[in-house]
Amino acid sequence: MLNASLRVDAATPLAPVHRRTFGSFVEHMGRCVYTGVYEPDHPTADADGFRRDVADLVRELGVTTVRYPGGNFVSGYRWEDGIGPKDQRPVRRDLAWHSLETNQFGLNEFMTWCRRMDIEPMMAVNLGTRGLQEALDLLEYTNHPSGTHLSDLRAAHGHADPYDIRMWCLGNEMDGPWQIGHLDARSYGRKAAQVARAMKMADRDLELVVCGSSGSAMPTFGAWEATVLEETYDAVEYISLHAYYEEHDGDLASFLGSVTDMDHFIESVVSTADAVGARLGNRKRIQLSFDEWNVWYLSRHQAQAEVQPTDDWRVAPRVIEDQYNVADAVVVGNMLISLLRHSDRVTAASQAQLANVIAPIMTEPGGAAWRQTIFHPFALTAAAASGHVLRAEVTAPVQDTAKYGEVPVLDAAVTTDSETGRAALFAVNRSTDQPLTLEADLRELDPSGVAEALTLADEDVYAANTMDDPDRVAPQPNKTARLDGGRLTVTLPPVSWTALTLSIPRK
Ligand code: AHR
Repeated sequence: MLNASLRVDAATPLAPVHRRTFGSFVEHMGRCVYTGVYEPDHPTADADGFRRDVADLVRELGVTTVRYPGGNFVSGYRWEDGIGPKDQRPVRRDLAWHSLETNQFGLNEFMTWCRRMDIEPMMAVNLGTRGLQEALDLLEYTNHPSGTHLSDLRAAHGHADPYDIRMWCLGNEMDGPWQIGHLDARSYGRKAAQVARAMKMADRDLELVVCGSSGSAMPTFGAWEATVLEETYDAVEYISLHAYYEEHDGDLASFLGSVTDMDHFIESVVSTADAVGARLGNRKRIQLSFDEWNVWYLSRHQAQAEVQPTDDWRVAPRVIEDQYNVADAVVVGNMLISLLRHSDRVTAASQAQLANVIAPIMTEPGGAAWRQTIFHPFALTAAAASGHVLRAEVTAPVQDTAKYGEVPVLDAAVTTDSETGRAALFAVNRSTDQPLTLEADLRELDPSGVAEALTLADEDVYAANTMDDPDRVAPQPNKTARLDGGRLTVTLPPVSWTALTLSIPRK
């Protein structure tokens, strides 16, 4: 049995909990859209073709924003293909995923779905095959009230009210050689700056996200951010980060330590952005949009693609439908802890993706929808985290990892909300084989009781949920949680994620 302790400082909250932290991502990729959120022939489909069973799970997941329509897809996308009468929409090739795009789901379907779900859209423009004019046209179609060609066209399509979309991504992963229209940092920075300035001439209150690196292991990481921000600093609010982790060659300890890289990634981008700001004499603070993050067994898919190339040009093929296990859910829970811990600068995030494609929600065409293991930490964190994030000082034993050296076995975040009278503690035990007793000194919060204690763990860390056994892995009450005079004690099993909510005084 290991022991760890945690102490919170309630006097100086780190930052508010941002609702945009609990965003997701819908890309026209594989079955995320078609037979994911949209399937007109499904028994639960509503009049617009949206699956109600999926909508119910999305609500339970607590998703607040959705990035759309890509991803790599957006860099070859013509948004006009997805508007107007459905029988007149063209079928196109999607080069990014070698699929056929029917365009039966497009901008208006997405916005109708968002409104029904009370979800904020985060729209990406194509800076791969396209540029400034098409971005301005899209902005006019979505946001201009009326009386212009494209706003009247929107009204003619049945959507008289402007959508007033606030957040816009200026392309996707433009640092990646795989990206259609990939550019070097200077060229992309100049292109993004032009698009950003022109979009702001239409609406100065837009919130614009410039592409950062597709991952901290990119050879251009750091230099890319510096150059792109040199060009765009005054015109954008956010820079993006993307990160995916996986267990390599049975190295569970390193995989469980993945947030070591995520923390370093975030802190490096903050330093780089602030250094550019200082050089430019600009006091504005660039915010971070972690708009793709998850566990993704990418190397397995790459190996598979080498031995068995994809069967090209299908509609909604089964692409990267990863099945997630207990360890994956623990890493996802830990990634959410990292996002909360950096809420002073990471003010938006999108888990990639929402349905079927590396997703918390799985579906069968014409059949069931179910929760993957990773659904649970997301849903519970989104529901319980509110108010402010506190600084939490952790003292814990370390575990040796091949990839990151010594990693503390405990990671945790604490939020407190005096309006709702609830505080929350999220904790992971990253030890591969030892339970951990955590003593948390929460006296500064004056808690009166533990409202709920749930732990996700299993004897088999590779256990997963499937269509036939959809609830094989789910959080269970943690009966070890005790509160005594503001000091909380709880035992965390090895490879586990835990959420505790506490009653605190309302103010
Ligand atoms: O989310 C899957 C893909 O991962 C996205 O299309 C791309 O942006 C990233 O490389």
